[in-house]
Amino acid sequence: MTAALFTPLHLGPVELPNRIAVPPMCQYSADDGSMTDWHLYHLMNLAMSGAGLVTVEATGVERRGRITHGCVGLYSDHNEAAMKRAIDAARAVALPGTKFAIQLAHAGRKASCDLPWKGGRPLTAEQDAWTTVAPSAVPFAADWHTPQALDEASMARVREAFVQAARRAARIGFDAIELHMAHGYLMHEFYSPLSNRRSDDFGGSRDNRLRFPLSVARAVAAALPPHMAWGARITGKDWVEGGWDVDDAIALAAALEEAGASFVCVSSGANAPDARIPIGLGYQTHLATAVKQAVSLKVRAVGMIVTPQQANDLVAKGEADWVAIGRAMLDDPRWGWRAAEALGVEIERPPQYLRAGPKTWRALLTPVRG
Ligand SMILES: Cc1cc2nc3c(=O)[nH]c(=O)nc-3n(C[C@H](O)[C@H](O)[C@H](O)COP(=O)(O)O)c2cc1C
Repeated sequence: MTAALFTPLHLGPVELPNRIAVPPMCQYSADDGSMTDWHLYHLMNLAMSGAGLVTVEATGVERRGRITHGCVGLYSDHNEAAMKRAIDAARAVALPGTKFAIQLAHAGRKASCDLPWKGGRPLTAEQDAWTTVAPSAVPFAADWHTPQALDEASMARVREAFVQAARRAARIGFDAIELHMAHGYLMHEFYSPLSNRRSDDFGGSRDNRLRFPLSVARAVAAALPPHMAWGARITGKDWVEGGWDVDDAIALAAALEEAGASFVCVSSGANAPDARIPIGLGYQTHLATAVKQAVSLKVRAVGMIVTPQQANDLVAKGEADWVAIGRAMLDDPRWGWRAAEALGVEIERPPQYLRAGPKTWRALLTPVRG
């Protein structure tokens, strides 16, 4: 019997060969939103990782929706052409059946920051800072940019930017779209009571706070061709008293399912600097499990899922439908190969690398004597 982690998974019209995903991970290496050679290397490498789905990093649907000057965007023809070059190259070397998704994002009040390895602080005027936007004019922290509160006409323009970016993603040939509704970025800012102080139809009750993110989701869904799947990364918990919690996440997942989403990835935190997050192995997978118990779309767990056994157990026990492996995959971009070997599953390797497989030279190794 094959390991649960290596059984196929359907996301609406899209079949994944296994239940391992590479989650979106910003590389901060773009040029005015356009992917560079770094992305070519990065995505080609991950295309061969053994993950059933490789997700392109948070991609700003408009220039001011990027986190940093180095973040990827999809708001110009040049962005689209550069991304197509990288995705075509990644597909050309991908293991059989590997699918590709893109995370469409708007950084909201957390935009206009420096690269993480330069401190990640809000940009200064000399560093070409830009005006950020949010549901309310409330900064992420005291020393962060104060965003402009979006009015309804501006919200409609942001929604249209999501739609146009989704159309570009479809032209590039992605199999799926993941909407970024987590980590304290624009859509999370709308639905979390910590960042939404509006008194109009888009603030106040949970239904009102969800109104804009759900309208974006419906507009994107309507723009996609039928062979593409879509879903969202959502927040399971703000980890702050009075913030968004798992019951809210269940309501959001149910609403997304009703709108036609076929998956959610349940993450948490990052909308408040004073959040108390108990980081550790699998620290937020219980949030995914709670969501999975309440809805029928495919629920992905993420966050310090590190070993093949841990990943397989989550799927085998029905605690998640699939898993995302982030940093462990950057550390070892053959993580899927190692997981297959550890769980006794054979996966197809590229013929060029067959002579390096577990049944070849490694079978000849004798245990090293101490
Ligand atoms: C370098 C890096 C970049 C990231 N960029 C994104 C991103 O673009 N979008 C997103 O939703 N999460 C992003 N994340 C979060 C990861 O997708 C993932 O949720 C997180 O790292 C926890 O999973 P892990 O413990 O397996 O790494 C990033 C994480 C890292 C380490």
